[in-house]
Order: sequence, then structure tokens, then C-alpha cells
Amino acid sequence: MKNFAKSRALQKRAQAVVPLGVNSNFRYWGDGVTPYMSKAKGGYLWDVDGNKYIDYRLAFGPIILGHSYDAVNEKVREEIELGTMAAMTGELEIEVAEKIVKMCPGVEMVRFACSGTEATMHAIRVARAYTGREIILKFEGNYHGFHDYTLWSTYAPAEAYGNRRSPIPVPASSGIPKVLAEKLITLPFNDVEGFERVMKTYGNLIAAVITEPCQGNCGGILPQPGFLELIRKRTEEYGVVFILDEVKTGFRIANGGAQEYYNLKPDLAAYAKALGNGYPLAAFGGKKEIMSIIGHGVAQGGTYNNNKPGVAAAWATLTILEKEPVMKTLNKRGKRLMDGISKIFKEEGIVHCMNGYPAMFTYAIGAEKVACQRDWNDTEKDYYLRIIDLLIERGVMPDHDAREPWFLCYAHSDKDIDDTLTAFRDAVKAGKK
Ligand SMILES: Cc1ncc(COP(=O)(O)O)c(C=O)c1O
Repeated sequence: MKNFAKSRALQKRAQAVVPLGVNSNFRYWGDGVTPYMSKAKGGYLWDVDGNKYIDYRLAFGPIILGHSYDAVNEKVREEIELGTMAAMTGELEIEVAEKIVKMCPGVEMVRFACSGTEATMHAIRVARAYTGREIILKFEGNYHGFHDYTLWSTYAPAEAYGNRRSPIPVPASSGIPKVLAEKLITLPFNDVEGFERVMKTYGNLIAAVITEPCQGNCGGILPQPGFLELIRKRTEEYGVVFILDEVKTGFRIANGGAQEYYNLKPDLAAYAKALGNGYPLAAFGGKKEIMSIIGHGVAQGGTYNNNKPGVAAAWATLTILEKEPVMKTLNKRGKRLMDGISKIFKEEGIVHCMNGYPAMFTYAIGAEKVACQRDWNDTEKDYYLRIIDLLIERGVMPDHDAREPWFLCYAHSDKDIDDTLTAFRDAVKAGKK
């Protein structure tokens, strides 16, 4: 058994001054089992007890190259010597904006922010301002950050959502004003019939349809063929802004994110995570016609929006993505891992389905297919968690939450994949009841 004594002691100490002992609810796995980290480098992470893990959480996705990546750190060091903040625009951030516009097919103009939450929040404001409408359509199981506008129907028991013909928006927290439900329509992901019905009835009142390309916060459920294209078509017809939340997929499933992957041009898109390889930078952008209203009666800003460490890290990260075979390598290794996991399940006679993309995937146990959170809720989460606990014991760390994908980074090696598959086979066998 691994020793977690120091993690436990730190948790106790943290809980005296920080709610749950963590600075984001998602990081709390429970009393006595929440690891506290001391170091992360490349594809590895060490906890405070000195246990080493092959890291597949990768900070919930930002680490696309590797933890504490030398070339990124160097650029950050160089730039912060010239000042960390000036509340003035510098050349480097213009270059980052140019790179984003070049890489992401539907992005003609871009503004920066610090987190994915801010990026989607700003995109929603701009969409409302552009259309003069207020209603937002979001899909159950999708997560767009912590602001109140879309922190609804992210993760609730299927019963709470009501009938699929008339879904009930469920707030994901106390403290969210009930009145915001009046500005929201929720639907199951991949529900073509429901989407057509809602657009026919309310299309002229909707400001924006916002979606993750795949459900990166709900088991990696993929869009069924034609679903994203249908959203594009109908939003165009009804003058609705299509916001693609690429906070997880951007600069991860392809250099141009889901837009490149699906050959899709939304009106606006939100980015964060992989953009800065672990340094805080976010962005939202899209059509010039829409983005140009910013500053003309439409507010957007933020003290830290062009923070130098984030901008420098994004510059270095995007430069490496452009120059090196990052995506090719991730896809190859990720595919081998996905195929290997599926093969082990098959050999052990376990019904499952693989979801997501090689750079960001997961699996559901007990179902051959999942199309939306309502389906996913019925899958076998206890066994999933037993496998995760056994993997952690064996030095492999995916997230402890079955909704969260496994993330790959450029620094993971072929040997890491082999070691992971060996541990996975053991864990699947040991976790059987
Ligand atoms: C799809 C998506 N959108 C938005 C966010 C919010 O990003 P942040 O945590 O940087 O605020 C997340 C975070 O996980 C996300 O996965």
C-alpha cells in the first residue's frame, strides 16, 4: 500500500483555513484520500509523500506539452524580467492573437481572459449584445465554468431533469438565482428531435446555443455524426450565435481544436487550458462582425487579461504546436492507450464503450453506447472508481471523477503507455467484484 500520511496531514491543516481543504470543489476526493502534490514534471506527478504517478489528469487538461515544460518556462522567465503587468498592450500578445486567428478556422478576432469561466461568460455577453436577445440554450452534462448563467444541468440525477421533451434546468449549486432559469433552455446532448423542436418554437428568441464539441465534462460523449452541423445550420437560420466551448478541446484535439477536427465554423469560441500549457490565459473569439461590437457599447475587460506569464506561455506553447509533431504524437499514443484499454475490457468480458478523442478520452462501463448524460448516469461508476483507486495505487493517475477524461501530453512516452496498460490490466482484474 502506498503511504499517504503526509497528504492526510496536509489535508487536515488545509481544512482549518480552506473550505474542504482545496481551492476548487473538483479537487476534493474525500477525507483521507485526497492527494496533495509536491511536484510535476513532464508526464509525471509526485505527491507530498513522494509517490510518483504517470499523470493523466494533467491539471484537468491544460498540460498539452508536459508539466513545467522547459521551453515554455524559459520564455516566461525571459518575459517576466521585462515586467509582469502594465495594463498596456504589448507586441507579444498581438502575436498570440495572430497565432490563434491563424490556427483556429472560425476565429477572425480574439480577446483574452484568464480562465475558461471568463471566456464563456464574455462570449455569452457578446452574443446577447449582438442579437439583442437573452435566452441561452445549453446541453445537459456540459460545463462552461463557474458563472451563474450556465452552471445548470451539469451533473444531476436523470430524474431531476424531467422528461426529455420538456427538460427542467437544474442549478448545480445553491446561490444561483432562480430567475436565471427564465433565460435558459436545456436539452439532452445529441437530441436532434428536441433541438429541432426548440429551434422551431423559440429560435427567434434565442441569443446563443453554447456547447462543448464533445462532453468533456461528462464522460467524453461524442457528438453524433451531423449533430454539430445541425446546430450550425439552425443557428444560422434563426440568427442565433453558435458558441463552441473549446476550453478542453482547443489546442488539444487538433491545433485548430474541434473547428479543425470537424471542419466547423461557429460564430464564437472559447479557449483556455491547453492555450497556456498550465499558465493562466484564456481567450474567446470568432467572427469579426460579432467581435467588433466589443467596445461599442459592449463591455469586456479584466486586469489580468494580458498577464505576461500567461501570454508568454501561450506564445511558446502555440509556437511549439506549430513547429513540432505534438498532435501526431499525442494521437498515436492516445489511440494505443484507448485501444489497449478496450482490448483489456473485451478480454475480461466487460461491456464498455470508449468515448472522446485520443488526446482526451475516457470510457463508460456497462453500456455499449452513450449519447447524453441521461444515458451516462446509468453506467457503472462504482467499478470505474475501484479501477481508478487501484491504478493510483499502481502509480497511474487519471482523475477520480468518472466524468473527467484521461488527458495525454507530448511528454508521455511509449513506455508510459505500456506501463499504464500493464497497471490497467491488473486493476481491472483486481477491481472485479
Ligand atoms: C468545457 C469547459 N468550459 C469552461 C471551463 C471553465 O474553465 P476554468 O476552470 O478555466 O474557469 C471548463 C473547465 O473545466 C471546461 O471544461
